Amino acid sequence: MIFYYSGCGNSEFIAKSIANALDDRLVFIPEAQRNEQFEYDLAEGEMLGFVYPIYSWRPPHLVDEFVEKMVINGKPSYVWTAVTCGDNVGMTEKIFRNALNDRGFELNAAYCFKMPNTYVNMIGMSVDKPAVVKEKIAKAKEKLPKVIEMIKAKATFSDMIKGGLPRFKSNVIGKSFWKWASDKPFYANEACISCGKCAKACPVQNITMEYGHPHWNGHCNTCDACYHHCPQHAIQYGNKTKGKGQYYFKES
Ligand SMILES: Cc1cc2nc3c(=O)[nH]c(=O)nc-3n(C[C@H](O)[C@H](O)[C@H](O)COP(=O)(O)O)c2cc1C
Repeated sequence: MIFYYSGCGNSEFIAKSIANALDDRLVFIPEAQRNEQFEYDLAEGEMLGFVYPIYSWRPPHLVDEFVEKMVINGKPSYVWTAVTCGDNVGMTEKIFRNALNDRGFELNAAYCFKMPNTYVNMIGMSVDKPAVVKEKIAKAKEKLPKVIEMIKAKATFSDMIKGGLPRFKSNVIGKSFWKWASDKPFYANEACISCGKCAKACPVQNITMEYGHPHWNGHCNTCDACYHHCPQHAIQYGNKTKGKGQYYFKES
């Protein structure tokens, strides 16, 4: 069983690729939360996987909350996680390992895929150049079969890219990130054509269309899917996204 979360498709691609190769079942965490479906039965010998993007050098809040609430009946034969990040993950492995330990599970392996960056809500942060996008996706596709083989072999493994100052990034910046993360600066400018693709793209259904324009309802997960999926590039985050590009994962 694989639990996954994805805003802009990178982690979804990884989760689905692994699930297909393992013939495993997939659960989309935001949907499980909407349906308050937290209890799952594992078959004899079944593995447990978690796939998600890195947000501010930590697992996204939504993933933390799910792990706290989930009830897994049965003992997994192997517990693994595969994360996607733009650059590096800080102390994510340790944070996630501890979260699982608190729920009585041992993390056996942590895999990491460097994928195109999706975070644009800060000055200085933007999407990758097209050549970098292409290269990151090509490398991830090259890595996938190796990771799949390791999961099949139930290998004990860690290949997380911690980056510099991992403790400071995860424990200081990462923790404070959620205190000031807000959807209030989001707006759609005059280029909006009321297509509703932003609302459809939002994994947590935080956007409603009001008088033909998107309205953000205060339970944003900061994935930026709305911004990236707008066909008119009409969605902006205050003045932080001016002149920046868009990206979401598309199978080419
Ligand atoms: C709110 C937010 C915070 C992010 N923080 C990090 C980070 O700390 N380190 C990093 O390498 N990438 C970071 N990223 C980039 C994403 O982890 C990366 O692009 C990921 O593949 C997106 O996955 P998705 O398409 O499944 O949503 C961040 C992206 C967002 C939206």
